[in-house]
Formats: sequence, C-alpha cells, structure tokens
Amino acid sequence: MRDIRIVGGRPLHGSISIQGSKNAALPMMAASLLHRGVSVLKGCPRIADVFCMEEILRELGAVTWWEDHDLYMDCTLADKTEISGIYTGKMRSSVILLGAMLGRSRKGRLGYPGGCVIGERPIDLHLYALRQLGADIEEGPFLISASCDRLTGGEISFAKCSVGATEQGILAAVLARGDTCLKNCAREPEIQWLCRYLRTMGACIEGEGSDCIRITGVEGLEHGEMEVPPDRIVAGTYICAAAATRGTIIIENPPVDELDAFLEVYRKMGGQYKLKSGKLIADSSGIGYPLSFLETEVYPGFPTDLQSPVMAVLTTISGESYIREQIFEDRYKAAVELNRMGADITVEGRDARIIGGSSLRGCTVTAQELRGGAALVLAALAAEGVTRVQGYQYIRRGYEHICEDLNTLGGMLEKDTGIRLYESIQLPKKLIN
Ligand code: UD1
Repeated sequence: MRDIRIVGGRPLHGSISIQGSKNAALPMMAASLLHRGVSVLKGCPRIADVFCMEEILRELGAVTWWEDHDLYMDCTLADKTEISGIYTGKMRSSVILLGAMLGRSRKGRLGYPGGCVIGERPIDLHLYALRQLGADIEEGPFLISASCDRLTGGEISFAKCSVGATEQGILAAVLARGDTCLKNCAREPEIQWLCRYLRTMGACIEGEGSDCIRITGVEGLEHGEMEVPPDRIVAGTYICAAAATRGTIIIENPPVDELDAFLEVYRKMGGQYKLKSGKLIADSSGIGYPLSFLETEVYPGFPTDLQSPVMAVLTTISGESYIREQIFEDRYKAAVELNRMGADITVEGRDARIIGGSSLRGCTVTAQELRGGAALVLAALAAEGVTRVQGYQYIRRGYEHICEDLNTLGGMLEKDTGIRLYESIQLPKKLIN
C-alpha cells in the first residue's frame, strides 16, 4: 500500500492529455469475450481495474498482451466458465462477464462482485435482464451460477436505470436468438461506446443514448477494434483540481459533449471555459460562488462520480453549498477526511451541507474509495502545508498517473517510495515552519 504526499498551495497551470476511460474500457473488454479471436482496444488506460479485468480474461483462457497503451485480447480459447470470488470481489464490473459467458458458452459461474464501498450495490437488475432472455440462475451463498440453451431475445424493462445492468443486457442480447428490446436503460456515454464497439464486431444494435435500445441477435461476432475515448471523470477531476487551486488548465483531448452537466456546475462556481482548436481551456481564476443545490443524477445529469471532487472544490469557496447524492446511498466517506483537513461538512443521509472558505491544512487522511480518494488529493493541492493521502490503491483503480499528471500542471505530489522528492525542492516560506 502506498501513500501520496502532496505539498499544497500552488495554483495548477498548463496542458494535460486525458487517459482512456475506465468505465468505457471495462465493458469493451467483456465484449471482447464474445469473439473467438483477437480484439484490440487502443489507448486503453493502464489502471488497476483494467489489469483486474485482464487477469479475469486470462483466467478464462484468453491470451492478452500490451503494446504501449494498446491492449490485445486473444479470446480464441477463453472457454472456461468460472471466475473465482478472488477476482470478482475486487471489482464490481466483473459481474457483466456473466452475460458475456452466457452468450459465448451458455453457462457461467462467478463470485459476487466487489468494488468501491459506496452503497449497497445489489445486482438484482443484472439477474433480471439475464432471466428475461431465458437464463436459469441460481444464487448460492458465494457463487452465482447461470445457464441457458441459446439465449432468446425478449423485452427487458428496467425498474431503475443502471449502467451495469444495461451493459449486462446488451452483452447477453447480441448473440441471442431474435430481437431484444431494453427499456428504461441507462444512457451514459460508456453504454454508447460499448454499442459502437460491438457494432465494429458485427452486432446489430440501435437506439443507444436513448432509454430504449433494440438489438437483433447475430450468429457470431468478428474481431473488435476501437480507440478507448478519453475519461470524462478524469477530465472533470483535473478541472476540479485547477478549480480548487484557482488555476487555468488546458485539456488537450476533452470529451466535451460528455461533460455538459459538469461544466454547467463549474460555470456556476465561477469557472469559465472555452473550446479552442478542439482543446478545452478551463479558467478557474473566478471560482468563488457556492452552489445553492447540486444533485447527482443519471446521465445526462450531473455524474455521481464527480460529486466528491466538486465537494472538495466547494470546501474552498466561502458560503454554504448543498449536495444531494441520489445514486449511491453511502458516497460521503471523503467528507469525514475533508473535515480533518479543516473543512466544515455536515452529512445527513443523502444530503451534505458544506460551509466553505475556512482554510484547509495538510494532515494525514485516508482514501476509502476511488473518487473520494481523488477528492482528498484535490483538497490537499489547495491546503496549506503537506498532506499525506493514504489508500493510494483505491485511487489507482481509476487514475493511471494522477501524481505525474498533476505535477505536469505544477502540483507537488509524490508517491511514497521512501524517498522524499519534495525535500529537495524549496518550499514556500509559510510551509516550512
Ligand atoms: C457505473 C460506473 C460507476 C458510476 C455508476 C453510476 C462502471 C464500471 N461504473 O457503476 O463509476 O458511479 O455507474 O453512474 O461503469 N442498482 C440496483 N440493482 C442493480 C444494479 C444497480 O439497485 O442490479 C442501483 C445501484 O445500487 C445504484 C444505481 O442502481 O443505486 C445505479 O447503479 P449502476 O448504474 O448500476 O452503477 P454501476 O454500473 O455499478
């Protein structure tokens, strides 16, 4: 387990290129199992969750290799149908492999999925989708077992929008016999990328991006190849880093259309942005307005994954802000740690009240999940003094080079390797005492 040490108090400035999207890459990797041959994801992020999914594919019999950031997956012999709880417990996305295994091998068994502890995170909608297509599912104490004759297309009408369950239904339906209609499905960009990827493989899908996706099953899929899009959550996180320190940054490859709700919130806090030659310039010099009410919503609403990073920014803005977390019931773990740094956040159920403006000070804090961990890094950049963020293993699940990236922008971060890089750098006078 490594920590990150951060010297705060320096506004971020400069240009940055955004890594490939975690939430797009993971379901594309699962989709690659549906072709008995080699598929490639270009610009794939080299992050812990991708490595975990790669490990699972290997466990199933796939051969995988990297060429720089291009991930090759040869699934010719990936015919095993059991994934142990050791792997699935590490990552929630593993559950979508059940639909892919049913499509490919007509059976599958896996341990219950783990992932960030941000709420109860049931999988009832995943299993509902598979049952609607004819899967026979047994939920044991440790393993879920599913089998079918060839899956048969049908109607899947979700009681609630779920990104993962929508992906599950899509992965199961593309090789099913006949037509499937998914209703009230999630509309997140990652679902659209999954459908585009599957179409490169020969799947017959339409309607992604709306709440109704129609799929006509095909007999087999060809190899897949696609560039993984830039990660909208990482882009939002880095803009928040600039906002917390009142800097100006340029995102070289912004996923602009996917950031609308976030950029609207950024603008309300006083941020200004413009697109120039395909780059996004985010100027945070005017950040200073609290948010009277921000609620997280399914896409195209404000993403729950950026709730904690924005909360970190709000701790630096004088006045009262309010957040309501509508997607996950336990996503305020970072608030306790932010309070240890001098923030004033009160959480009641799904609501948080932030009284911002009192200065943050560096101390030792602990990340307990991915995005909350990133929020602590942002607060540390804005804080006086040195902060040690423990729990780097959560942050690296989704950020390939958070320290290097933020250092490129003028931050002072280092992973704790035992060598204190910043001790050789001259600290601002007020930090030395
Ligand atoms: C995905 C994203 C995650 C993001 C979330 C919401 C990936 C790998 N992860 O997670 O980063 O925060 O979408 O945008 O893409 N639910 C049920 N039953 C189910 C499934 C979900 O009740 O069977 C509930 C969840 O508890 C939650 C809500 O539905 O309250 C939304 O969850 P979901 O959209 O499924 O999130 P994930 O796919 O897990």
